[in-house]
Amino acid sequence: MAVVSSSVRLSDRARTLKPSATFAVTARVKTLVAEGKDVIGFGAGEPDFDTPEPIKEAAIAALRDGMTGYQPVPGRPEARAAIARKLQRENGIECGPDDIVISVGAKHSLYLALQAMVNPGQEVIVATPGWVSYMAMVGLCGGTTIEVPGATENDFKLTPAQLEAAITPQTRAFIINSPSNPCGTMYTPDELAELGDVLATHPQVAIISDEIYEKLIYADVAHFSLGSLPALRERVITINGLSKAYAMTGWRLGYACAPGDDGVVAKAMARLQGQMTSHATSFAFPAIVDAIERRGDEVERMRRTFGERATLIHARLSAVPGVVCPRPTGAFYVFPDVSAFYGGRTPAGRVIDTSVAFAEALLEEAHVAVVPGEAFGACGGTHVRLSFACGTEQIEEGCRRITQWLATIERPQA
Ligand SMILES: Cc1ncc(COP(=O)(O)O)c(C=O)c1O
Repeated sequence: MAVVSSSVRLSDRARTLKPSATFAVTARVKTLVAEGKDVIGFGAGEPDFDTPEPIKEAAIAALRDGMTGYQPVPGRPEARAAIARKLQRENGIECGPDDIVISVGAKHSLYLALQAMVNPGQEVIVATPGWVSYMAMVGLCGGTTIEVPGATENDFKLTPAQLEAAITPQTRAFIINSPSNPCGTMYTPDELAELGDVLATHPQVAIISDEIYEKLIYADVAHFSLGSLPALRERVITINGLSKAYAMTGWRLGYACAPGDDGVVAKAMARLQGQMTSHATSFAFPAIVDAIERRGDEVERMRRTFGERATLIHARLSAVPGVVCPRPTGAFYVFPDVSAFYGGRTPAGRVIDTSVAFAEALLEEAHVAVVPGEAFGACGGTHVRLSFACGTEQIEEGCRRITQWLATIERPQA
């Protein structure tokens, strides 16, 4: 019998989708470590803390009590009610349990929100540098990302004029993330209110406000939710989750609050989720309630530690000749400008001409992992991202290696 050769053909979507740059750096670090290399990893965007014990206990008790079956698609009612209370109390967002959809991580919440609202050919405005997955998710919806680059001297924050200029009749949504990954900076309430004034005049634009880092703030600036503005309430989808504030990245728990239009977006997100994952893990729902209602002290303890690290890494990087490092005020990232080294040559003969080349050379030659800024949008190409969700010894040693390595780079115009 003749052998017919066959090969599985991938969809265009799967073929062209790039893996997450941040996950790729983490995977490369793991490989180098497995080879016995002593690598300092500033790549991973996850707390180095363990989940607080009582949160784990809540899930363990639920598991023991038999909370092991299918659950309502948007999540158990008591967890949604706890989230709605939190959003009213802390964020000033008028909402109820029916406006909340709990999903498998904030990443999934964002994906569902985009899938619920964006048709092929429509535009989604993303303030860049912005989190790696926004652009990929918009692409999966068939939409077009309109990158609006913030100015470095304004901490990469968008101005009302920039936002106004980017909105077209094709604009379906605007994604904003404060505090920001990768910039490590945040908008003030006044700055957000000014963006809100622009958005109020464009009723066709939905606003996706990614507030996953809201609890991790190191400046004297209050977190502000666009969803609390009455003029925008109907159109804001607030995204948040437990990964970052409660050291629960692996639990995969995120949520969206979409109170507008009688919950039309929340219901659409739940319909989509019902055909994708059904719901988040059953016995995690009591852990959500415990975390957001009772673990404020633990969150504050972690925030203080992150704050000390923010000060340390900023001081160390600012002291490196040629590196321009904005002060991190939120999230757990610093985003220094390293473009002064572009055009230079490393001791091993590598030419540094992009943030990708910079990050690759730094990893291979000094064994320090950072994420190239261009992964977060073209305008990030002059920068690299370092996560300071790691111990102070690691920060000291990593910065020592960076300082030493950069001192050996021949810069043509230094
Ligand atoms: C800005 C931003 N949004 C959303 C997420 C996704 O969080 P989760 O782990 O809950 O999916 C991340 C994670 O890195 C992030 O940095």
